[in-house]
Amino acid sequence: MDKIKIPKNRIRKIRTLGLADKNYFSDINNRKGANKKLVDLCSNDYFGLSRDKEVIEAAYKGSIVEGLGSGSSLFISGSRPIHSVLEKEIAKWLDREKVLLFPSGFQANIAAIQALADRNSIVLADRLIHNSLITGIKASGAKLIRFLHNNLEDLEMKLSKLNAEKKSLLVIVESLYSMEGSLAPLNNIIQICEKHQAYLLVDEAHALGIVGENGKGLSYTFKDRIQIISGTFGKALGSGGAFLACDKIIGERIIQTSGAFRYTTALSPSLAAGTLLSLKKIKNNNWGIELLSFSKKWKQEIINSTDYIVIGDCHIISIIIGSENETLELQKYLEKNGFLAIAIRPPTVPIGKSRIRITIKRTLTNEILNNFISVLKAYK
Ligand SMILES: Cc1ncc(COP(=O)(O)O)c(C=O)c1O
Repeated sequence: MDKIKIPKNRIRKIRTLGLADKNYFSDINNRKGANKKLVDLCSNDYFGLSRDKEVIEAAYKGSIVEGLGSGSSLFISGSRPIHSVLEKEIAKWLDREKVLLFPSGFQANIAAIQALADRNSIVLADRLIHNSLITGIKASGAKLIRFLHNNLEDLEMKLSKLNAEKKSLLVIVESLYSMEGSLAPLNNIIQICEKHQAYLLVDEAHALGIVGENGKGLSYTFKDRIQIISGTFGKALGSGGAFLACDKIIGERIIQTSGAFRYTTALSPSLAAGTLLSLKKIKNNNWGIELLSFSKKWKQEIINSTDYIVIGDCHIISIIIGSENETLELQKYLEKNGFLAIAIRPPTVPIGKSRIRITIKRTLTNEILNNFISVLKAYK
C-alpha cells in the first residue's frame, strides 16, 4: 500500500485526559507533570451533566435493566422501551410529531439530508456548517452551493437564481455555530425558504438545552415551518447519541429508507436512560438563561483584557488570533497556566482565522474566570 501522506499542518495528536473533578481534566500524558489539573474550557459538556451522579446512576440502572448495548439495529432486536420513552419525551418537549434516535449526531445529519435531498436536488448550505452535514450532502448526491455565513442577501440571491431550474431545494443551517458561537437569523431564513419553496434543516447541536424558550433551541418557536431539526445528546445533555425531530411523513420516510437509521446498532439503552434524566433536569431548571448570562460576563471580561477580536453570541466564545502558530503558542501558554482551551485551526476554520475556542459551562466559577483573565492579561 502507498504510504499515506498527510500535510504536516493537518497532523493532530489524540491525547488522553482523565476526569479530575467537575471543572478539571487531568492530563495523563503530560510528561512534565503527570495528572496536572487543567480547567476544562473546551468540552461541550455545557451543564456538567456527563459527571452528574444522578445521571450516571440512571444510565447504570438503564444498563442493568435493558443492557449496556442494544445488541443490534432497531429492526432486529435493538429497540428497548427506554428508546420509545425518550423519543416521546423529546417529541413532547419540542412539540414535534416524530422523533427518531441515532447513535450519533454525525449519523443523524446524514439521515436528515438523505430524507430531504437526492441527486436531483440542490442544497444551499451556510459556509460554516459542520462536517457531518457536508458529508451528508455528498452522500445524498445533491449539488452543493454554499452561501456566506449568516448572509441573508447571499442566500436569497442564490435561491432566486435557482428557481428556474425546477429542482428540489434544501437549505441547511445550524442554529448556533460551533466555532463562531454565532446565532442564525432563523426567522428570516425561514421566510426566504418559504418564498422559494425550499426545505429547511436546522442543526441544533450546540443550542439545545441552552438557547431559546426553556432551552428548546431556536427552532422551537417555528415548529413545522422547519422540516427537520437535528440535536445531539453529546453536548448540553452530557450523554451520547442524537435525534431527528420532524413530522410523521418525513419520519416514516427515514424509518423506511435511511441506511444511517436502519443499519446501525441502536443507541445504547444506558445512554438513553442517562439522557432521559438529563432532559428532565434541563426542563426543571433555568440553567440555559443562567449560562447565557455568565457567558456574557466571560466575553466582556476577555474583551476588556485583550486587544484580540472576540466573537460569540452565547456560551461559545472565540478569541481570534489569525496565525496558526500564534494560536498554538497561546494554547501552550494557557495550558502551562492550568487552562485547557484548544487552538482551532484550518481546515476546521478558514485559513487566517485560527482561534482559541472557549466554551463556558455551568460548573465554572467567578474565581476561575478571574484567574483566567489574570493569566490572559499577563500574556506577552
Ligand atoms: C454542529 C454539530 N452537528 C453535529 C455534530 C455531531 O454530533 P455527534 O457528536 O453526536 O456525532 C457536532 C459535533 O461536534 C456538531 O458540532
